[in-house]
This record gives sequence, C-alpha cells and structure tokens, in this order.
Amino acid sequence: MESIWKILFLSCLSVYGQSKVLSGSFWHITDLHWDPTYNLNNGNLAFACNSSGNRPTPDAGKFGDYLCDSPWELINSSIHAMRDILPEPDFIIWTGDDTPHVPNEDLGEEAVLRIIGNLTHKIKELFPNTKVYSALGNHDYHPKSQLPPEQNNIYVQIQKLWEDWLDPASRVTFKRGGYYTEKLLNQTGLRVLVLNTNLYYDQNSVTENIKDPAEQFKWADQVLSEAKKNKEKVYILGHVPPGLFEKKRHKPWFQPQFNKNYLELIQKYHDIIFGQFFGHHHTDSFRMFYKSGFPINAMFLTPGITPWKTTLPGVEDGANNPGIRVFEYDVKTLLVKDIVTYYLNLTHANIARPRWEKEYRLTETFMVPDASPVSMHRVLERIAEESCYLQKYYKFNSVNYDLALCDADCRVDHVCAMREVDFEDYKQCVVKEGASSTAPILFNVAIAVTLSMWASY
Ligand SMILES: *[C@@H]1O[C@H](CO)[C@@H](O)[C@H](O)[C@H]1NC(C)=O
Ligand SMILES: *[C@@H]1O[C@H](CO)[C@@H](O)[C@H](O)[C@H]1NC(C)=O
Ligand SMILES: *[C@@H]1O[C@H](CO)[C@@H](O)[C@H](O)[C@H]1NC(C)=O
Ligand SMILES: *[C@@H]1O[C@H](CO)[C@@H](O)[C@H](O)[C@H]1NC(C)=O
Ligand SMILES: *[C@@H]1O[C@H](CO)[C@@H](O)[C@H](O)[C@H]1NC(C)=O
Ligand SMILES: [Zn+2]
Ligand SMILES: [Zn+2]
Repeated sequence: MESIWKILFLSCLSVYGQSKVLSGSFWHITDLHWDPTYNLNNGNLAFACNSSGNRPTPDAGKFGDYLCDSPWELINSSIHAMRDILPEPDFIIWTGDDTPHVPNEDLGEEAVLRIIGNLTHKIKELFPNTKVYSALGNHDYHPKSQLPPEQNNIYVQIQKLWEDWLDPASRVTFKRGGYYTEKLLNQTGLRVLVLNTNLYYDQNSVTENIKDPAEQFKWADQVLSEAKKNKEKVYILGHVPPGLFEKKRHKPWFQPQFNKNYLELIQKYHDIIFGQFFGHHHTDSFRMFYKSGFPINAMFLTPGITPWKTTLPGVEDGANNPGIRVFEYDVKTLLVKDIVTYYLNLTHANIARPRWEKEYRLTETFMVPDASPVSMHRVLERIAEESCYLQKYYKFNSVNYDLALCDADCRVDHVCAMREVDFEDYKQCVVKEGASSTAPILFNVAIAVTLSMWASY
C-alpha cells in the first residue's frame, strides 16, 4: 500500500518536473518609441509631446497619451512590469523602433543613438543577466527608414551598445548589415536568426534598386541551409514584417520582389523554422504561411509599448494600449506552446495608478492546445467564421483600446491579411471574402448586438 502511494507520489513529481524542464518562457517587446519631449509642464498644455504632430493632447497624463509616443515613465513602467511578472525569462526578444515619430530635423544621428542607448541601458539595468536578441527598427536610423545595405556609423555604434548581447561572429555581420545569427542560448541544435528587414521596406529609398540588399537573403539562405544540415531548429525575428497591414486594405510594407523572396525563404526552410517574431504594426495580430494549403508556419506580431495613434491615412482611430508579451515554448523542440499578453490601461494608469494586467492567454481564449501552425490556422478559421471570436480578436488587436464592432469590411481586412502574406493571394482573398461574407456576418452581428443588449439589462 505504502509503496503504491510512493510510486504515485514520485510519478506526479516526475511529471511536474518534466514539464518544468521542457517548458521555458521569454519576453517579446517592441516599438517602445520613447519621446523625450513628452512633458506635462512645458507651459504648452495643448501639446504634451512633439510626436502628436500638432494634434492637441488635452487628456495627456503621467504615463502618456494616445496621441503621443511613450514618456519615460511609461518606458520605465513597462520594463519594471516585465521584471515583476517574469523576472527570469530564458531570454528577451526586442524588435526595435525606439525613437519618436517626429520629423527627421528634430532628431539627428546623435539623438537616435542616445535614445537607443538609454533604452538599452534600462533593459540591462533591470535584466543584467538576461540574453537579449535585438533587431533594428526603421526608426532606429537617421534619417528614419533609410537603413543602408553596408557598414555605417549607426550600425557600428549600436553594435557597441549591444556588444554584451552579441557573439563575436554576430558583431561582424551586424556592423556590415544589421543582421546576425547565433545558437539560441549557445545550445547545440537551436538557432536564432535576427534580420534587418528594414532593407526591404518600401520607404527605404537607399535599397530600392538593389537585388539583394546587404546580401541578406543569400546569407539567410546559407545559414538556414547549414542549419537544416545540422538538424537545428530556428526562430526568426525582425521588425518590419512581410505581408499586409490588417488595419488598412492593400497596405504592404515590403517591396513586392522582397516580399516574394521572404516567402520563398520560409517555404524552403519551413520544417526547421518554429516561430517568427516581428513588430512594426503596434497591433496584436499574426500571419499564416501555407504550402499546398497546409499551414507550415506562423509569424507573431506583438503589440507596441507606445500607444501612439497612427497618422497613416485611411486608418481610423489607430491607437493602442501599451502591450508586452510572454511566449511559453518547449525548450527542446522550440514549439510555441502559449502566448500571454499583458497590458496597461493607459486611461486608468493616468487617473489612478499603472496596473499591468493579463489581457489574455492564447490557448484559453481561442481554445487551441498550443500556438503551432496547425493551431494558429484553427484560430484564424474561428476568427473568420464566428463573430464572437472575430470580436475578441479585434479587441485584442488594439490591446483593448478600440472596442468598436468589427464589421464586414473590417473582417475582410483582418482575415485576408492574416491568411495571405503573398500580395496576389491577398488581393484574391479580399475579392472572395468580400463577396461571400456580408450576409452571415450581418446576421451574426445582429445576434451579437441583441445578446449584448440583453446581457446589459
Ligand atoms: C520606475 O518604475 C518603478 C516601479 O514602478 C518605480 O518604483 C520607479 O520610481 C520608477 N522610476 C522612474 C524614474 O520613473
Ligand atoms: C518640438 O517641437 C517644437 C515646436 O515645433 C520645436 O520648437 C522643438 O524644437 C521640438 N523639440 C525637439 C526636441 O525637437
Ligand atoms: C540618456 O543617456 C544620456 C547619455 O547618453 C544621459 O545623459 C541621460 O541622462 C539619459 N537619460 C535617461 C532618461 O536615462
Ligand atoms: C558556448 O559554448 C561553447 C562550448 O559548447 C563554449 O566554449 C563557449 O564559451 C560558450 N559561449 C558562451 C558565450 O557561453
Ligand atoms: C480603462 O480604464 C478606464 C478608466 O478606469 C475604464 O473606463 C475603461 O473601461 C478601461 N478599459 C478597459 C478595456 O478595461
Ligand atoms: Zn513602430
Ligand atoms: Zn516600424
């Protein structure tokens, strides 16, 4: 009798122990966009910050404003929240955009480097022993978005700031092209690839006529081919993502040829790529990659820390609450097991106190076992087919900022952006979904509205 109990007890322990060993977690933060001009006492109450671009900010508070980039208090609060919630992550992914949305004339090379230096310093101060994988954003250069395909002073200076986080070989390629690869946490069989996709951004006029800027595609192909030979598993990270913006129809970021090249790279090496982690949108979304209709990869777009309402024409009310995110993963297979997003209700922070709350856990909210490509495909299909999931997704997309109803057009924009990274396939999706979805969605919306009225009584 006693021995049976002993066995049960021990086997419970071993199950617990095993899952503890296999499961790891890491932070992903992005788009901090610190605005050093943010100031509530500058004598100009109508404009708390230069990044509002002359939009008046009557509601500006200590932790920021939806029309402004982040004040230092918000940056500090975010990084402290990371340490309070998960003080010992396996590593941190930081995918760029550190400077404010202001005219180039208001920044300059020195200011850009100083801002990146301040943020780097803050992260190092609170996570002194944590490995950080850091990618350049299009705002981490002067003039903005003009990241060159060769060595320059900014890459060299940033390499110095990030030296402790980089292996010796990474320092060399970073200086040359702003990209690098290393073994993930120096472990055999695991690899991380940090890309400088700002070279593919259609706003980058320095690289627009170059076939393979900084030979990054050639390099990535070699790295992945070698990784495949060595049976490694790979995470890819970068700032500007391929595909289209889900908040504005037909809005791509990459030049068309670069978008194709990126897709080909993923198609070719999908069986060794276990996650792609990007930013730039400031929103919470994801992108699917398919091969012959089968889901082969997912790209996770983590929301920004800046709440800044975009000035991109055609986007209505494109602000967000500050968000930060924990990925739980299998430390042996690199399978992404779950995603937990935390956020700051900026309105509440300004009137009461900064309270970082769990926003949602992927597997609970979307009823999937993990965040594998097959599971993310199921998430997407739920969002596409059931209005309650669409509405949940839409609320999370702006990190609980925009609580409006996602109507039929909104559904098409989001579903097609998530489903099709290829520009042509996206166009076809918009036509197809636009034609097929109007009736059932209106019907579902009617039910949702009725139910929510009913519930509020
Ligand atoms: C940073 O945040 C921490 C935790 O909320 C707080 O104790 C500290 O005073 C803040 N520092 C600054 C400079 O805002
Ligand atoms: C902020 O904007 C004001 C008004 O346009 C300008 O005079 C000032 O130089 C700007 N500040 C910085 C740091 O760029
Ligand atoms: C930013 O860094 C500069 C030095 O490069 C320093 O003088 C300044 O105090 C820092 N600002 C903050 C808020 O840490
Ligand atoms: C990485 O591991 C190798 C041996 O596997 C070791 O020689 C090297 O010092 C390690 N590097 C770091 C940065 O820990
Ligand atoms: C954010 O806080 C404000 C002020 O407390 C509140 O009115 C609002 O409902 C909150 N938003 C969410 C999504 O909880
Ligand atoms: Zn950004
Ligand atoms: Zn960006």
